[in-house]
Amino acid sequence: MELNELKQAFLQAYDKEATHAFFSPGRVNLIGEHTDYNGGHVFPCALSFGTWLMAAPNDDQVMRFRSLNIPDVVTLELDCLTTPLPDKSWVNYPLGCLAQFVKKGVEVKQGYDLLFYGNVPPGAGLSSSAALEVVTAYAFNVLLGTGYDRTQLALIGQASEHEFAGVNCGIMDQFASAQGKKDHAIDLDCATLQFELVPVKLDGIKVVIANTHSPHHLDSGAYNDRVRQCGEALREIRLLLNRPDLKDLASLSQEDFQSIEDKMTDPIARKRARHVVGEVRRTQDAIAALKEGNIARMGELMNQSHVSLRDDYEVTGPELDALAEAAWQVPGVVGSRMTGGGFGGCTVSLVREEAIPTFIEEVGKAYTAKTGLKADFYIAEISDGARQL
Ligand code: GLA
Repeated sequence: MELNELKQAFLQAYDKEATHAFFSPGRVNLIGEHTDYNGGHVFPCALSFGTWLMAAPNDDQVMRFRSLNIPDVVTLELDCLTTPLPDKSWVNYPLGCLAQFVKKGVEVKQGYDLLFYGNVPPGAGLSSSAALEVVTAYAFNVLLGTGYDRTQLALIGQASEHEFAGVNCGIMDQFASAQGKKDHAIDLDCATLQFELVPVKLDGIKVVIANTHSPHHLDSGAYNDRVRQCGEALREIRLLLNRPDLKDLASLSQEDFQSIEDKMTDPIARKRARHVVGEVRRTQDAIAALKEGNIARMGELMNQSHVSLRDDYEVTGPELDALAEAAWQVPGVVGSRMTGGGFGGCTVSLVREEAIPTFIEEVGKAYTAKTGLKADFYIAEISDGARQL
């Protein structure tokens, strides 16, 4: 949708003009899955899909939330910004961000009329919720004059997800939405939040996203289970290695892990830890490979990442497996894996430009034959992070 159309929609909804417009993107993660909440590196890129927010002050001492995606108007008094709404309302994502400003001691004295619009396919694992959170945090940072930096805005979005959506997510999605840069991937160390922007120079290769449109979307229950299982694995490993100071699973070397792997009593915890330890190393290797221009190596590591997420982390499911496995058969595909939380959602593939039409046809056909569903394909445009328009 064009900015002008959104301005028009605001005028229709509120009978006055928007004074401010903001945008924040979704993301695709190239590699480094389920490493963020274990203190590892991730390697996401911001996309051109995202969420827009149009705003104008009102004289009514209320926040009004509307969205062009969901026919719903929610009006809240300014002293009601710290309590989540019932029934998993979409308003909890932006409201959770406002609550963080209030918790930090920021006084919200002015009401605003807000209109959101998002074009990140929902439930696709491309961070539609992070886009919604970060656009809100970015906008209110401007509107309230709070001067937080982009990392702080990402943390506000993450806190909203924890406290208002009940998902104990890591920082990757909100960070990518806040800090993304056109044609760059973000090498983010989730333990320190230090990051480096790495140019994505793929010379004749494109990043292609395939959407399973699988009915099961990011399941917060299964996601939170993985977070908990990693905590349990860490506790057992600390005892087995006699290293009470071991900070997180990402700080564990492959050698140390292998020395105690067979002694771990819980087979689930063992598998989860095996994925994290391997994925941490694959992510570092893939980033190094991209920097050296060794895209073939990066592709191999992406394939290995999928296998580990399928067999050890158990977050892929038949739809994502069908897409990745079909992609691996197509000549011109350099690598393919699930991206994001898993349990449905999307795969990300590196595909030689001339092979893209065959890729879409062959993978699409194989996917429908296996699952009865129809996949969608998008060529990723790696774009900038949150901004005022
Ligand atoms: C979701 C979470 C992220 C991250 C990924 C898996 O997208 O929001 O924090 O854990 O899953 O890598």
